Amino acid sequence: MEFQQVIEGRRSIRKFEDKEVEDNKIKRIVENVMWTPSAHNNQEWEIFVVKDDEIKRKLAKAALHQDFVEHAPVVFVVCGDKNRCRENEMHYLFMDIGMVCYNICLTAYDLGLGSCIVGAFYPGEVSEILDLPENLIPLSLVPVGYPAEDPKPPRRRTDYVHWIK
Ligand SMILES: Cc1cc2nc3c(=O)[nH]c(=O)nc-3n(C[C@H](O)[C@H](O)[C@H](O)COP(=O)(O)O)c2cc1C
Repeated sequence: MEFQQVIEGRRSIRKFEDKEVEDNKIKRIVENVMWTPSAHNNQEWEIFVVKDDEIKRKLAKAALHQDFVEHAPVVFVVCGDKNRCRENEMHYLFMDIGMVCYNICLTAYDLGLGSCIVGAFYPGEVSEILDLPENLIPLSLVPVGYPAEDPKPPRRRTDYVHWIK
């Protein structure tokens, strides 16, 4: 797919077909994450690939009952590892994990899949559900599946550029 098409065409998808995502596509997504840039090359991400129905149901509940999380065939839980990041550089961890999430979404779109970055959830509940160690902070859920909707792009701002000449 053309790069510009990937950038403009990716949408947040919240309805998925009842169809499995092939393992080779899941593997491509997690392999692409490897190429995400990170501060000091920290690569401080840990990703849990959740296909289990009961766990997905619990994750959706932890995400303020955003039910589409449960109905996605696969949910990537993207965590940041505090131990791989200096204490006064936590902003790097947040930036790096944000890029991981976008990487997942762009790769998914390129593979014909839909995705949505989900940031509204109780991190404590997600840690409990996945029995995460204390050093891992769950920062995003990214449900992925074959899209069952084709939403219009939400309105974009164009007034954010400030040329300084
Ligand atoms: C950090 C972050 C958190 C988000 N959290 C949620 C969420 O909890 N639930 C949801 O439905 N969408 C969530 N979104 C998706 C945004 O609503 C969406 O990206 C935005 O409306 C633009 O639409 P588009 O992705 O189709 O371009 C989140 C996006 C980002 C980047």
